[in-house]
Amino acid sequence: MTKLSIPILLGSCRIGRESLKIAKFILGELVDRNQIDTELIDLGEYNLPMLEERLQDSSNPAPNVLQFCSKLGQADGILIVTPEYKNGYPGVLKNALDYLQPQALKYKPIGICTVSSGGFGGLDCLAQLRLVCLALGGLPIPDKLPISHVQEVFDENGNLCDLRLKTKLESFINQLVWYCEAMVNQKGDR
Ligand SMILES: Cc1cc2nc3c(=O)[nH]c(=O)nc-3n(C[C@H](O)[C@H](O)[C@H](O)COP(=O)(O)O)c2cc1C
Repeated sequence: MTKLSIPILLGSCRIGRESLKIAKFILGELVDRNQIDTELIDLGEYNLPMLEERLQDSSNPAPNVLQFCSKLGQADGILIVTPEYKNGYPGVLKNALDYLQPQALKYKPIGICTVSSGGFGGLDCLAQLRLVCLALGGLPIPDKLPISHVQEVFDENGNLCDLRLKTKLESFINQLVWYCEAMVNQKGDR
């Protein structure tokens, strides 16, 4: 059976970002699943230019813009890891998503993991990001994965301090996979 393609999109490029640790941890969990093909799409590495024109209007789009759009376009589903900034999601994430065609994420389930150093796990940015996903034709899944006090999630050796996160993540990934499989089967792709 062909593997499901579920990349992780990390929505921050901040120097010292804690959300990178979460994204890498989730990456490890996805890699461990035989039925998933994954990679980390790190906006900190992509360094996309600020959007000055839509991709379809651009005569000479930057190669990293094309690569970013192509990777998301080919995915069966996406797992977004984003910190909450000022009750919203980071501008760098919106800039990246604005490059995508309006229906670029059609029939793609999207799991959103929000991250914050406070006690509410970035829940304020979840609803906003779900709306953006809908505008791209994507299907934000009902499950959420808010991670609060992110600076306390791992110890100094990078080990997970609270094993309940592993259980929550497992269930979150199961749900995302369920929706991805349902969409792939419905489309008759495989
Ligand atoms: C510009 C900026 C705005 C922030 N706004 C919020 C916020 O509204 N709510 C919140 O819980 N944490 C906020 N934080 C703290 C982040 O939750 C914290 O930095 C956390 O580690 C996740 O972001 P990171 O991946 O950039 O580290 C903000 C951080 C930055 C850099």
